[in-house]
Amino acid sequence: MERVDVLVAAGPGDTQDAVLAAAAAQELTARAVTNLEELAAGWRDAGAVFIADDLAERVVGRALPHRPDVFLVGADERALTAWSAPLGARVIGLPAGAAWLGVVLGGDSAPGLAPVVAVVGGAGGVGASTLAGTLACLAATGNGRAALVDADLVGGGIDLLLGAEQTGGWRWPRLTGAQGHVGDLRPYLPVVDGVSLVSMARGPAIDLARDPMAAILGSLRRGHDLVVVDPGRSLTAAARESLRLATRILVVVQGGIRAVAAAREVVRAHQLESAELVLRRASPGITAAMVADAVGLPVVAELPDDRRLPAAAERGLPPLRAGRRYQRACRGLLARVMGGGDG
Ligand SMILES: Nc1ncnc2c1ncn2[C@@H]1O[C@H](COP(=O)(O)OP(=O)(O)O)[C@@H](O)[C@H]1O
Ligand SMILES: [Mg+2]
Repeated sequence: MERVDVLVAAGPGDTQDAVLAAAAAQELTARAVTNLEELAAGWRDAGAVFIADDLAERVVGRALPHRPDVFLVGADERALTAWSAPLGARVIGLPAGAAWLGVVLGGDSAPGLAPVVAVVGGAGGVGASTLAGTLACLAATGNGRAALVDADLVGGGIDLLLGAEQTGGWRWPRLTGAQGHVGDLRPYLPVVDGVSLVSMARGPAIDLARDPMAAILGSLRRGHDLVVVDPGRSLTAAARESLRLATRILVVVQGGIRAVAAAREVVRAHQLESAELVLRRASPGITAAMVADAVGLPVVAELPDDRRLPAAAERGLPPLRAGRRYQRACRGLLARVMGGGDG
């Protein structure tokens, strides 16, 4: 059975309609099932499962394995109360809770799930990987739990940027078979400066498909406060999936005529209409407003040139070796990304 974002067990009617409408509004794939066999078949792999109140008792009787993101929905308060604990499900009472369906399904604010920020280069070498690494490292200072996912098959491995190529732990080749619900990966991944890394390995090229990317991101979102993805410039199926699952997409653009044109092309080709721009080193005479206007997306941060960064990257030093101005700009961006707001 094809994996869907939302599986709803409900007969035709208001509950089914409400969940399908909320899923459609978030552009999530959804399937309604009306019997237990179909529910069981899709149970493990669905992103979230919604069970109508009138089916809850039978679902409990079926004793499906425990899984996260199960919701019990409907108008029958007694059924909702009775079956939420045995199903390990959160309750959404209709019609009052209909707005919650949108909140629960809206990636940014899905309870318990970390935001996924993808950092895309509007052109090669603009500093997308560096920004991705810096955001993850900053998020991990204090007690934050951050993960950094490298989906760039030809980027040389983001662990190199962080000086973690000798650090033991699983890399993509160990994870390409991942599917559906994956448990907590933190104990298995290389960690540098508090950041869990999912990076490419040096060696034979690997085939990175869409499903493992979705499964790994799902696991990381449950175990961290922030997940940063570096999709790279050659957008493979896995990289595209990471963009689809991202709750926020930042496109790094350099402020020159050609760089802006390139960024506009990247945005168009990959349908990044909801992305935000991060402006790196505006050429004199080119303002953030001009860049925003030309690309058709808002500029949410400006990154200064930092002459320490290239040398630090060569030596595999964490990007927190960057100068204060660069760090301050990244901190502002991080606050924005974590706050989910647009100010
Ligand atoms: N703000 C910056 N100022 C100066 N150099 C930078 C900055 N950001 C990145 N770099 C340097 O630019 C080069 C390319 O950066 P990288 O992050 O790999 O770019 P991308 O991932 O977009 O190809 C590296 O040498 C990096 O250290
Ligand atoms: Mg890169």
